[in-house]
Amino acid sequence: MSERGSAQAPTLFPVGGPELRPGPEPVVLVEGRAERWLGELPAGSAQLAYVDPPFGTGKRRTSSAGSYEDPGRHPREYAETLRPLLDLLWRALDARGTLLVHLDHHASHYVKVLLDEVCGIDSFRNEIVWCYSGGGVARSDYARKHDVILRYAKGEPRFHVERRPFKENTQAVGRHSTYAREVAIDLARGTPLTDWWTDIPTVTGWNPERTGYPTQKPLMLLERLIATCSDPGDLVLDPCCGSGTTAVAARRQGRLALVGDVSPAALAVSAERLRAAGEELRRVRWPEV
Ligand SMILES: C[S@@+](CC[C@H](N)C(=O)[O-])C[C@H]1O[C@@H](n2cnc3c(N)ncnc32)[C@H](O)[C@@H]1O
Repeated sequence: MSERGSAQAPTLFPVGGPELRPGPEPVVLVEGRAERWLGELPAGSAQLAYVDPPFGTGKRRTSSAGSYEDPGRHPREYAETLRPLLDLLWRALDARGTLLVHLDHHASHYVKVLLDEVCGIDSFRNEIVWCYSGGGVARSDYARKHDVILRYAKGEPRFHVERRPFKENTQAVGRHSTYAREVAIDLARGTPLTDWWTDIPTVTGWNPERTGYPTQKPLMLLERLIATCSDPGDLVLDPCCGSGTTAVAARRQGRLALVGDVSPAALAVSAERLRAAGEELRRVRWPEV
């Protein structure tokens, strides 16, 4: 791994310069505020952008390997704070690029309205609902146990449908129905995945994936999103990478990764995790001023 971090002026990293783009290392880790460095990426350089920002809970998120501030405001105001970041991510995508924005009930409704403005209402493709269990369960309300991933895309987006096997009784009906022969191929291939996912557990307890960084997302979730919404060899962008889940998942799916975080602790966890996975990476420290 080569360290090219510096506290010097941003001119070290000229607009459109090679430093932000992966190569020869397939992963670049940027330490810095996303809004500062994303603008230096040439428009249209990435094929997929995923962002899992603080959700606007008003709580400081702390765990054994790091912590970050999650400001609490009215969700409309909170959504507005994301506008510069979302504008930059949308600009960074190529003509068939996909933007995935991961949120929960705190602000997803306001952020969806904002994304309709930033990306154009016709670019909306999916609201993916990731359902999970575990953790505390409220007694005075229905327990809130899902996140939302908003998917917006340009043009004719890359999309590789994932299928899951039909349930046994559906297969049995299909096998014995009058049109069995016509549907036989589809029965064997399974049914396309819907927009609500219940098969991906959170990263808790003794899960070997667990890094100790707060609000770490599961590799399986990111691998599914990346495999579905991009092609092998594509560049995947995640400017709020936390423990580096997106970069690890991107490499497992044969993609390049350009990820960053404002927190040095997050970058340390990400670098360690990628190194343990045998990945070569380059680190860039983006100056604050
Ligand atoms: C929800 S966590 C990301 C977790 C990550 N998806 C994972 O699997 O570990 C949000 C991250 O965004 C970072 N962050 C918040 N504001 C940022 C900004 N303006 N620029 C870059 N990173 C930021 C925080 O430091 C935190 O690590």
